[in-house]
Amino acid sequence: MAHGDEAAGASGGLPPGRLEDAPDVGRVIVSEPDLQQRIVELGDRITADYAGRPPLLVGVLKGAFMFMSDLSRAIALPVEVDFMAVSSYGSATRTSGVVRIVKDLDVDLLDRHVLVVEDIVDSGLTLNYLQRYLLARRPASLEVCALLVKKGQQRTEIDLRYVGFHIPAEFVVGYGLDVDERLRNLRAIHAHASRSS
Ligand code: IMP
Ligand code: MG
Repeated sequence: MAHGDEAAGASGGLPPGRLEDAPDVGRVIVSEPDLQQRIVELGDRITADYAGRPPLLVGVLKGAFMFMSDLSRAIALPVEVDFMAVSSYGSATRTSGVVRIVKDLDVDLLDRHVLVVEDIVDSGLTLNYLQRYLLARRPASLEVCALLVKKGQQRTEIDLRYVGFHIPAEFVVGYGLDVDERLRNLRAIHAHASRSS
């Protein structure tokens, strides 16, 4: 036997106290299989759309790290990846639209086909700011792939080329998304049990 611990294997490697059972983890909004299936579809579309001009994937940290990981592997093109970290001024769960660049890109965008990979679009103000910021670097093209879009919440026009799921306007966690830096490592998207948005 290559692997010693049979019990851990049978339970998917999860310890007895599952993160999913934490008191503030609510119902599943998008399940792990639904996420994975949709990401394969998005990857196929991106592969077809960008044939002959492999994109530079720009992930928005921290929330998009898991989506970026899975999406990049679903794209059958020699993509490059880079990351930005932004933080919005204001409270943890309400965006103000004023964005601070915490980590900038390492790569020059001039004449590159840039595909921004975002975890979630709520008001859209973060993305609106980012799009203007990135366009100033003169890419050949700039499109957005957002895993989640909250229905009816957008306060600005944004052109989202690829969207994973439209979800109800409530606060969600998991698959990269956090509440106060917790619960990013849930495998599915869950409602956060003690907050609304
Ligand atoms: P927006 O500027 O209002 O569109 O907010 C976008 C950012 O706020 C996202 O990239 C997330 O980092 C964060 N955010 C918005 N809604 C949620 C949520 O339901 N859970 C976790 N983070 C969220
Ligand atoms: Mg984000």
